[in-house]
Amino acid sequence: MADRAEQFLMQMRRRHSVRSFSDRPVSAALIKTCIAAAATAPSGANHQPWHFCAIGSPDIKRQVRLAAEEEERAFYAGRAGAEWLDALAPLGTDANKPFLEIAPWLIVVFAQRRGGVEPGDQKKNYYINESVGIACGMLITALHQAGLASLTHTPNPMSFLNEICNRPETEKPFLLIPVGYPAADATVPVHALSKKPLDDILTVL
Ligand SMILES: Cc1cc2nc3c(=O)[nH]c(=O)nc-3n(C[C@H](O)[C@H](O)[C@H](O)COP(=O)(O)O)c2cc1C
Repeated sequence: MADRAEQFLMQMRRRHSVRSFSDRPVSAALIKTCIAAAATAPSGANHQPWHFCAIGSPDIKRQVRLAAEEEERAFYAGRAGAEWLDALAPLGTDANKPFLEIAPWLIVVFAQRRGGVEPGDQKKNYYINESVGIACGMLITALHQAGLASLTHTPNPMSFLNEICNRPETEKPFLLIPVGYPAADATVPVHALSKKPLDDILTVL
């Protein structure tokens, strides 16, 4: 058990957000398997309050890029506020998001306000953000385990994704995750390499 835990830790330490992708294709089957892994996540009352859209269509990816860049231009031009932009500065990100067209897949994760276990249920969902957040963590882990790179992307706001993905207003776009292989010259910002030591984040009582 200790060996397996250690090996998993080593594997997870190799994961990083990628913002420069290759256009090398990735099979839909691989993406589906990773989403199926995410769908095993625990959720409030087992309502599984998520919906995943896997976008491989170049035309739809372009629509997402254009809409996201429009929001991001306003965000970086000041809507974010000085403190947020300061926090982002070490990552070197800006309003240009070519990876939204270049990455072979975009996975949009929607959080459902209402639902239930059975198809068509319209019950109240519980702990929606916690549940969908856990599913997204498992998705990112599954993609990494499969040898794929991803980015946790949140163009702000993301409501344009409802229209492009044809999802109802009762669902909130939660994350936009480009997936694929890193570009040959992809780099990871130094800022992202530093993770807090266990002593700083763990208290054993
Ligand atoms: C909820 C959330 C939203 C994020 N939004 C963005 C984003 O919109 N654009 C971006 O380039 N990175 C985004 N990131 C990625 C973070 O910048 C990245 O995870 C962090 O710098 C640590 O780097 P790492 O993922 O390589 O460990 C987001 C991460 C999270 C968890």
